[in-house]
Amino acid sequence: MRQSIRLAVFGSLMVLFAGCGVLDNPMEWFRGGNQSTFDVKGPVARQQLDLFYVTLWVTLFIFVTVGGVLAYTTFRFRQRPGDSDNPPPAQTHGHPLVEIGLIAGAVFLLVIIAVPTVRAIYDIYEVPDDDDMLVIDVTAYQYWWAFDYPDEDVTTANEVAIPVGRKVKFNLRTFDVIHSFWVPRLAGKIDMIPNRSNWLWLQADEPGQYWGQCAEFCGESHANMKFRVFAYEEDEFQEWIEHQRSDALEPDDDDELAVEGADLFRRRGCMGCHTVQGTGAAGMAGPELTHFGSRKTLGAGMADNTEENLFRWMRDPDGFKPGNLMALDPQVQNLTDEEIEALVAYMKSLK
Ligand code: CUA
Repeated sequence: MRQSIRLAVFGSLMVLFAGCGVLDNPMEWFRGGNQSTFDVKGPVARQQLDLFYVTLWVTLFIFVTVGGVLAYTTFRFRQRPGDSDNPPPAQTHGHPLVEIGLIAGAVFLLVIIAVPTVRAIYDIYEVPDDDDMLVIDVTAYQYWWAFDYPDEDVTTANEVAIPVGRKVKFNLRTFDVIHSFWVPRLAGKIDMIPNRSNWLWLQADEPGQYWGQCAEFCGESHANMKFRVFAYEEDEFQEWIEHQRSDALEPDDDDELAVEGADLFRRRGCMGCHTVQGTGAAGMAGPELTHFGSRKTLGAGMADNTEENLFRWMRDPDGFKPGNLMALDPQVQNLTDEEIEALVAYMKSLK
C-alpha cells in the first residue's frame, strides 16, 4: 500500500516537473526560459520584479517569525507525562504591550510593502512625458495580434519591432473577446476588454527577441496566442520601418511555383481575409501578410516560419492551431498538396 502511494506521488511529480521542462534542461528551467518575469530587460518589468522581492522578503520574515514562535511553543509547552496531576497554569487575559507591539509591527511591515507599491502604481500608470515615445496600436483577435504604427503608417501582425532604449506606448483593444497583452520580460500584463481601450508602456534596455503571450483565457487556442517583440537599435529599427512600409515583392518570374502561388492566393479566396500591400489583397479578417516571408514565426508565434511548418499549417489549420478561423474556410480545406506547395513558395517569397 505504502509502496503504491509512493509510486503515485513520484509519478505525479514527474509529470508536473516535465511540464516545466525541468527534465529536459534543468538550467533553462531555473533561469525561467523565454517567459520569465525574473529575467527582466526593461525598467517597467524591473520595477515590478523589485516590488515582488520586497513583498517576498517581508512575507518570508513573517512566515519564519510566526512559524518559529509556533514551533518553539509547541515543543516547549507540549504535554509531558504526569502533567495532568499538576494544577493548570495561571490564566491571563489581554496583554497591552504585546497587543500594541503586534499591531505596530504589522503596520510597519505593511508600510514597507505599501510605499514602493504605491510609487510603482503611479510610475507605471502615468503616460511617460516623452517626445520620443513610440505609439503602437494593438488589436487582439481570437488567436492573433494586429500591430499598427499610426505615426509611421505601418501595419503588421504577430511580430512587433521596437527601438531599444525608447519608451513605447501600446494602445490595447480587442476585436472580439477579452484577451490580455503580456511581454513577461518587459512589462506586466494588461487586459484587452471589448469596447474599452487600455494601454501600457514599456521599454527594452537591450536588443533581442522577447516573447509575448495572451494572458487571459480566450478560447481553444488561447495558449497558442503568442507574439514576438523584436528590440532593435535605432538605425536598425528605422530600416525595419522602411521595409514594412514598402509594398510586397512580386515573386520572381523564374520562381514558377511562387508565381503560381500568387495566382492561387487571388483565386482561392486568401485575399478575402488577408492583406498583401500593393497586390490588391486587402482582407481584414486575418493577419496582414505583406512581408510574411521575413517573419521568424507563424501562427501567432506558435512555430518557426519554415516551409515545413507552413505546409502543415495550410494542410490542417485546425489540427495545427485548434479553433482558428482559417480552418472553417472550405476553400482552404479543398486545397491539394500541390496547391499548398505553391502557396508556401509564394508566402516565403514575401520577404
Ligand atoms: Cu487571447 Cu487568450
